[in-house]
Amino acid sequence: MKALVLAGGRGTRLRPLTHTSAKQLVPVANKPVLYYGLEAIRDAGITCVGIITGDTGAEVREAVGDGSKFGLDVTYIPQEAPLGLAHCVLIAQEFLAGDPFVMYLGDNFLLGGISDLVDAFCHGGYDAQVLLTRVTEPQFYGVAELGPTGEIIGLQEKPVHPRSDMAIVGVYSFSPAIHEAVRAIAPSARGELEITDAIQWLIGNGYSVHSHMVSGYWKDTGRLQDLLECNRMILETIAPDNRGTVDGLSEITGRVVIEPGAVVENSVLRGPIVVGADAKIQSSYVGPFTSIGPRCVVQDAEVEYSIVLDDSSVHGVSRLAHSLIGRNVEVSRAEGAPNTYGLMVGDHSRIQVRA
Ligand code: TTP
Repeated sequence: MKALVLAGGRGTRLRPLTHTSAKQLVPVANKPVLYYGLEAIRDAGITCVGIITGDTGAEVREAVGDGSKFGLDVTYIPQEAPLGLAHCVLIAQEFLAGDPFVMYLGDNFLLGGISDLVDAFCHGGYDAQVLLTRVTEPQFYGVAELGPTGEIIGLQEKPVHPRSDMAIVGVYSFSPAIHEAVRAIAPSARGELEITDAIQWLIGNGYSVHSHMVSGYWKDTGRLQDLLECNRMILETIAPDNRGTVDGLSEITGRVVIEPGAVVENSVLRGPIVVGADAKIQSSYVGPFTSIGPRCVVQDAEVEYSIVLDDSSVHGVSRLAHSLIGRNVEVSRAEGAPNTYGLMVGDHSRIQVRA
């Protein structure tokens, strides 16, 4: 059994972060989301992993290396353009060499790992296994329509009029039959070779496609609200650990991780929170579900339900919430009159202010 991890793509929904960085490397609870997937693959007993990369390939290679730090043997497969999930299978054919494999979308997070799913696939003798979960906004997902006995009868990709609320989770298992399917299909209206079309082809040609309901927590972190939700979920599971310095004027409650070199002074921290290495929190409030990256400075400010990436600072601002702050960003208070906002933001940024 091999794994094919998809870490290319456009990442348009997470601009401007994805103008300069891979979305699969955005940290959740201060660890790149891709790492959780690689660890889940390793824990399922798979070591041979191919990673599809796009424009951000250099950054992904730098972060993952040869895979040995995860106990994996990684091969990189560059994709010339984001031509679709089924296109990834097409270009990985040589690497996959006729072996069954798990296809894992590099921006997906599945609590509880994938060992059970891999076992179910290996013992079931299916040609494909698709994971499903109920969602409230099926129009943003690949959607499966089920027949009376629970079998998949149809698939739709991000449908305007979804025929069900059963979304396809980004972890698939395939036998080599999928290679014939990805060669047989044509690009969709949006110009991509869709994996849903390839699976539909398998169904139409008599192959066995098994569906498996996901009981645990799953998130596709491709959108801001989902990324913040995933951050919340992972922070809920952390064990408190203070390896930094907290002064006597500070109050820490709940699950709070403080990494080495971090300093907390005259502040209130209400977990779950993670504070990265060498970060400084001074005269501030940091509220639940917040990840503060390494070397960040939070001063005279209030932050909650947010992710702040490495080397950024938040000064004199109250209260920042539901926010994703990139690397090396400065958020500060404007002093004096007139009472204006002063902004310098990248292309495709999103800012919400109280008028
Ligand atoms: P998506 O999130 O469906 O696509 P995207 O990355 O282009 O994002 P957006 O819609 O915001 O523009 O992709 C799922 C995963 O698969 C993600 O990790 C990126 C990866 N991917 C590839 O590696 N190659 C591809 O051709 C596509 C479409 C996605």
